[in-house]
Amino acid sequence: MFVVLLGPPGAGKGTQAQRLTTSTGLLHLSTGDMFRENVREGTELGTLAKSYMDRGELVPDEVTIKMLLERITRPDAAEGAMFDGFPRNVVQAAALDEALQGRGDSIDHALLIAVPDEELVARLGGRWLCRVCGAVYHELNDPPSRPGACDTCDGELYQRDDDRPDVVRTRLEKMKPPADLIDHYRDADVLREIDGERDLDSVTADLLEALR
Ligand code: AP5
Repeated sequence: MFVVLLGPPGAGKGTQAQRLTTSTGLLHLSTGDMFRENVREGTELGTLAKSYMDRGELVPDEVTIKMLLERITRPDAAEGAMFDGFPRNVVQAAALDEALQGRGDSIDHALLIAVPDEELVARLGGRWLCRVCGAVYHELNDPPSRPGACDTCDGELYQRDDDRPDVVRTRLEKMKPPADLIDHYRDADVLREIDGERDLDSVTADLLEALR
């Protein structure tokens, strides 16, 4: 099964993908996580991606598409994957469709997590992530048991550079799923909209129901 998670920054794509992976066993592929890993490792791709991420802008399509399409050729993506943060536009969606069609697959579900802007700002400002395992927390909505330490692996928690208020404003302008991308999946009859402005468990339950 191949699933696309769509939604604005802070909608809960990463948080829900981690929960759905636990329930479904699907491989979680986040282009944002791939870029951040490259930044940490100091690769050429990481340096290029960082210059866009720090401004809250999209990394160029040719770079992003190449990275993602290479990733899905690995054996662990043979049976399916859950894409988080990809595609962001119809050019990326068409490239993914073509690559999947080439191996007899297609997107089975596109799940759009909808959350209003004012809630997104509060979520991104209070987000903390584990440096080791990538677990996502929120200082008010989903706090760790001990401030600064991950419940799962005891790793150090940090805040993302692009969660600064000035960058968040740009991301909310530029990173929302565009209407033609939503139409792309509506036309393919795989789109479901999920109300993301509820507690974490209710959103997870709706997403799981949509995948049945
Ligand atoms: P990426 O990492 O994909 O960032 P994003 O889309 O901006 O999404 P976020 O990770 O910020 O939000 P999320 O929806 O995962 O929310 P989360 O679960 O953490 O991309 C980063 C950058 O990489 C981009 O800006 C771009 O430069 C580049 N990039 C990535 N993909 C690209 C592509 N395809 N093409 C080009 N460039 C690309 O939740 C947020 C917070 O809210 C957390 O604290 C969480 O605990 C809390 N929360 C979540 N759900 C709930 C809830 N239901 N109730 C209360 N709190 C909640």
